[in-house]
Amino acid sequence: MWGGRFAEGPAAVMREINASIPFDKRLWRQDIAGSQAHVAMLAKQGIVSAPDAQAIADGLAQVGAEYAADGVPEDLALEDIHMATESRLATLIGPAAGRLHTARSRNDQVATDFRLWVRDAIDSVDAGLAALQVALVKRAGEHAASVMPGFTHLQVAQPVTLGHHLMAYYEMIARDRSRFVDARARGNRSPLGSAALAGTGFPIDRFATAEALGFDGPTANSLDSVSDRDFALDYLMAATQCSLHLSRLAEEFIIWASQPFGFVSLPDAYSTGSSIMPQKRNPDAAELVRGHSGRIAGCMVSLTMTMKGLPLAYSKDMQDDKPPVFEAHDLLALSIAAMTGMVETVTFRKDRLRAAAEMGFATATDLADWLVRVADIPFREAHHITGMAVRLAERLGVALDALPLDKLREIDERIDQRVFAALGVDASVASRNSHGGTAPDQVRARVAEAKAALGIE
Ligand code: ARG
Repeated sequence: MWGGRFAEGPAAVMREINASIPFDKRLWRQDIAGSQAHVAMLAKQGIVSAPDAQAIADGLAQVGAEYAADGVPEDLALEDIHMATESRLATLIGPAAGRLHTARSRNDQVATDFRLWVRDAIDSVDAGLAALQVALVKRAGEHAASVMPGFTHLQVAQPVTLGHHLMAYYEMIARDRSRFVDARARGNRSPLGSAALAGTGFPIDRFATAEALGFDGPTANSLDSVSDRDFALDYLMAATQCSLHLSRLAEEFIIWASQPFGFVSLPDAYSTGSSIMPQKRNPDAAELVRGHSGRIAGCMVSLTMTMKGLPLAYSKDMQDDKPPVFEAHDLLALSIAAMTGMVETVTFRKDRLRAAAEMGFATATDLADWLVRVADIPFREAHHITGMAVRLAERLGVALDALPLDKLREIDERIDQRVFAALGVDASVASRNSHGGTAPDQVRARVAEAKAALGIE
């Protein structure tokens, strides 16, 4: 492609280090779409004749059909997807193929292809995240009133409802989706026509190619256009944050599936056994989601490091932009699908969840609040009285609401029979009815809002 300037061919290792075709062949659909938009514009502007443009368009369609049927051949000598396609086009239609690259460089070409690819990736992630939200909302609706311990420091804190806990993840995923939507909107500008770095002297129409490719318009600065990878970083940063939410949910499933917790049993379909320990049922899918989040963050750091010291405009370092984005996307898509499957099919052990809430003195705050509300005791003093009650319950090995009234009255005689209504876990969660609180009514309201937002029943 640049033979005119060179007397010798590249060293074998040069070929190898230079070639991106092993990974950038994933851009083939976008590369062909970009070329089709470009050649149609060149013809409309009278830069390429109508017959040549038609031959190029037909030839590109055929190359695309071949790729779809047989895959993209990996010829390292052809370096990348752009040259592979152009070379195949030349074989098919002859010298007219050489007119396709008029007023274009691989620098604006790859930037265009990659933006299109990331845009598609965002759309598929968004669909996956919507499906995960549907799964979360459905399970939350089933368990709006199922009581479980809420934790701080992984110590039992106050009773909450399982539906409330699951809806916390709905909220995280909603923010993730909005980050991807932002990234899509910001990245949806066409660099095509920026050429190598400075623009072109040909009378091209960048607005036309932008529109043909579904962009909101052309980018405004040719130097920025060929050297900007913010759109890929935006994607990776959104993916990183999303994957850490998935990882936290995965971690909870792992803890909850352990025997001492026993809050859930993960379905066979998302577990594995052990080759030596017959009793085992391991939460491998959840562990891999947790593991993948580290790799996705690594991909984000990888491209950040690639870009951080690059002068304007294009440098070949930027060819390294694609592997981390592809890797992160594949890992994220798998993680979303696996989490969705687990959320849909996990069995929540309501009896164990309730027993854990009852055993951990989770209603101690309710006792203190009752002393304030009913017996008009200052909160600090109520806290102290409650602490003694917890100590007693611990010594007797019973839950707070199983303490005999006379024992409670030995601690403080202002306590009376009515206190027991406040000490049960159901009363506790029902009382937390502030907006966004854990009360079943609140959970049902949030679930209804979420279903409306998702367009489901
Ligand atoms: N394969 C290259 C990449 O992915 C395409 C751009 C090459 N441009 C150049 N001036 N060598 O970045």
